[in-house]
Amino acid sequence: MKADGEIEMKTLARFKTGLVVLSFLLMMVWTVAPLWAACPQPRNTQKAPREFYSMVNPLKPTIENILEGKFLFEEKAKPLACKNCHGINGDGKGMMAAGLTPPPREFTCARTIDGVPDGQLFWIIKKGSPGTGMPSFEDHLEDTQVWQLILYVRKLAQTRIALITDIAKQNL
Ligand code: HEC
Repeated sequence: MKADGEIEMKTLARFKTGLVVLSFLLMMVWTVAPLWAACPQPRNTQKAPREFYSMVNPLKPTIENILEGKFLFEEKAKPLACKNCHGINGDGKGMMAAGLTPPPREFTCARTIDGVPDGQLFWIIKKGSPGTGMPSFEDHLEDTQVWQLILYVRKLAQTRIALITDIAKQNL
């Protein structure tokens, strides 16, 4: 008859192998998942009037501006922080996203967001996108805060390395 200790060791070893296999599978799904998402994302948002469309972000992407944008995106923006719909990573999968048609913009898809001018993003954040879930923030955010949000939103499509290099260059 086997000692209790030995049986326990075996169970533990099996449990450990199970954990390793499970984390491996999760990593696979996590790596491949972005490939299933549509990128570029279909985009039928109304075009901003010309005086807005041609606006260029007056702020520099300093670490202060980007971090303030991040804080607004995740917590501070009223009536509702952006992450609730756009997702904390900007992947468009916030907790309120499932009920929204069209879905929130995915800022992680560079091919969608890079081609959209600053002024267009500014106008939509201020006025909202009528007929969609995107609310107007005009009464709650200063223009400077909207520009900080735009700096941050554009960073969500970058890799972490590109982001850190960018910030480092700004602060040299
Ligand atoms: C209640 C959900 C919700 C919240 C909160 C929200 N959004 Fe959106 N947002 C959307 C949806 C839905 C769209 C897609 C609209 C469309 O397709 O026209 C969108 C689109 C956008 C766009 C795309 C504009 C374009 O022309 O492509 C930007 C930029 C944006 N949101 C920024 C923000 C920012 C910044 C915040 C926070 C200050 C925010 N959103 C908060 C739902 C939301």
